[in-house]
Amino acid sequence: MKIAIGNDHAAVEMKREIQKYLEELGHEVVNYGTDNFESCSYPMYGEKVAHAVADKEVDCGVLICGTGVGISIAANKVRGIRAAVCSDATTAHLVKAHNNANIIAFGSRIVGIELARDIVKAYLDAEYEGGRHEKRIRMIHEIEDR
Ligand code: RB5
Repeated sequence: MKIAIGNDHAAVEMKREIQKYLEELGHEVVNYGTDNFESCSYPMYGEKVAHAVADKEVDCGVLICGTGVGISIAANKVRGIRAAVCSDATTAHLVKAHNNANIIAFGSRIVGIELARDIVKAYLDAEYEGGRHEKRIRMIHEIEDR
């Protein structure tokens, strides 16, 4: 898969580890995040990854900031984006299976690197179940037109 990754200053090291992990798994990674440890603003990185996903330049996205929250809130402002913050592998599986999340997010200050790898793997290994979830996802995106 082709995967966009983005991060702010709080997650430079974790981004590097996760990028390496994704590449070891055989994925192509496009880095939209900062590699600078100086304080910066997470919304721009969330937006860049969100547009790459929404414009289908990549298959999905991974976003990391201190909590995973700010960067995912920003990404979710882009039409068509379903970015989900996860702190465990079960949620990471379910956000793909039920919500068909197209971006997974987590916090470098919340999860350790082993758990972060598990979260990413659980998300990538999961398959969207469709069926009853389809209508609910449609309802989410109808909100974008109101
Ligand atoms: C940066 O200090 C921090 O606010 C940011 O990484 C993130 O946690 C915001 O949601």
